[in-house]
Amino acid sequence: MVRVKTFSTTDVVQSTSKVFNFDQKDIALINYDGEFYAIDDLCSHAEASLAEGEVYDCKVECPLHGAEFDLNTGEAVTLPATKPIRTYPVYIEDGHLYIEIDQDA
Ligand code: FES
Repeated sequence: MVRVKTFSTTDVVQSTSKVFNFDQKDIALINYDGEFYAIDDLCSHAEASLAEGEVYDCKVECPLHGAEFDLNTGEAVTLPATKPIRTYPVYIEDGHLYIEIDQDA
């Protein structure tokens, strides 16, 4: 498990997301209602960036075919996606967002 420093909290303004690359993997950091979430920036249905999707009701909607994913659990809550996406714990320290990544997962 590694803890990785990403963006400043002020870099990810409310209702937006920013993509952080770690170990050749894109992770979307999302600010929804002042809370920060980290998810894989790849839809489980096909090749689409979830960072470009709309965020509401603590879910992100895939911009390609509209599947919704729960920001807390990564669960696919609407079709056409059926598989979950990976989520990462987010911590705030000294004004920065840290994510915890289990590299064995
Ligand atoms: S690529 Fe995301 S729902 Fe199809």
